[in-house]
Amino acid sequence: MKDDTLLVTGGREPENHQGAVNPPIYRASTILYPSVEAFEAPRQLRGVYYGRGGVPTTFALEDAIAALEGAAGAVVTGSGKTAIAQALLTFLEADDHLLMVDTAYAPTRQFCDRVLSRFKVETTYYDPLIGADIDRLIRPRTKVVFLEAPGSLTFEMQDVPAIARVAHARGAVVMLDNTWATPLYFKSLQHGVDIAINAATKYIGGHSDLLMGVATATEEHYPRLRRGMQDLGCYVSPDDCYLALRGLRTLSVRLERHQATALRLATWLQERPEVERVLYPALPDDPGHALWRRDFLGASGLFGILLKPCPEKAWHALVEGLELFGLGASWGGYESLIMPNRPERYRTATAWDPAFPSIRIHAGLEDPDDLIADLEAGFARLHEVSRR
Ligand SMILES: Cc1ncc(COP(=O)(O)O)c(C=O)c1O
Repeated sequence: MKDDTLLVTGGREPENHQGAVNPPIYRASTILYPSVEAFEAPRQLRGVYYGRGGVPTTFALEDAIAALEGAAGAVVTGSGKTAIAQALLTFLEADDHLLMVDTAYAPTRQFCDRVLSRFKVETTYYDPLIGADIDRLIRPRTKVVFLEAPGSLTFEMQDVPAIARVAHARGAVVMLDNTWATPLYFKSLQHGVDIAINAATKYIGGHSDLLMGVATATEEHYPRLRRGMQDLGCYVSPDDCYLALRGLRTLSVRLERHQATALRLATWLQERPEVERVLYPALPDDPGHALWRRDFLGASGLFGILLKPCPEKAWHALVEGLELFGLGASWGGYESLIMPNRPERYRTATAWDPAFPSIRIHAGLEDPDDLIADLEAGFARLHEVSRR
């Protein structure tokens, strides 16, 4: 079945739920057993045994996402960051070495620097553009190579298949933060990724009212991933799983619109004299465009812009006066957002020139003409303050 059909049918079993179209919310900590024999029977990797391990609402969501990603299975977690942290903890042990992309989401870096380091796991940050050359950084104890494509602040693409080929040849597990593209626009497991992680908080939830993560894995790695998450006491409320499933049903139509509006804004911004560069792999002149075209099926609504050097208070006036773009750190919801960022603070393996103010935009579902008018007024404020 094609993705749009999987989005509608995934995880649904009306015949097991009194005909209800949507899998109901099962709120349960305690599960009762009919006999001692049933209570003592060996437990499967996944089943309804005790609330923490999941209920039918949880499993419906996991199955729907696993089908979309072409994975053997999925495990949901309380946030995207927890999915990243717990996947890393599950596949690393003392004295191991981790290769982490330099453009990773900043809290992913913090987890490596503050937590993994306490367990004697060494992290080396690498250039996102490294490709097959990653071979020279791999050591005998390199157990995980972690990617994020594109990076969610500066949008560099990675050659995922090339990195995965080398990592596998050297015995490392390949993990990727797939939040930007979602399982719809990047089929990561088909491109050599072993474990794909999504912050369902973003596009899957889609309505800015939910925090959740999900990790999917290949046949080879799914049992270890699931057991590892269970060992760490991972739990997600069935109410939240219900919300995520509800968001998932409309993911495809929402993403189409996010992409179209982002492209329209990005193209318009490229022509603005105040803009140095737009960072969005879907643009034909973006340095990552060829990789994006080769491997990805679409682009989401998140992209960056670098402004020409101007006084801080001038670009603050642009950002702060916007009416339709909220000033906030998240993305993937129905509403447009804008956020200043300082990439130079979050990279150690590659250089970043802070001379150009860096701003991130999430294109929401509003009418693009209204968004452009809002930005246009923002540029007028920038000039007005610059002149003072
Ligand atoms: C690329 C990326 N990965 C992971 C996360 C973490 O998701 P959560 O906020 O659900 O922990 C975020 C959140 O902003 C993100 O931008």
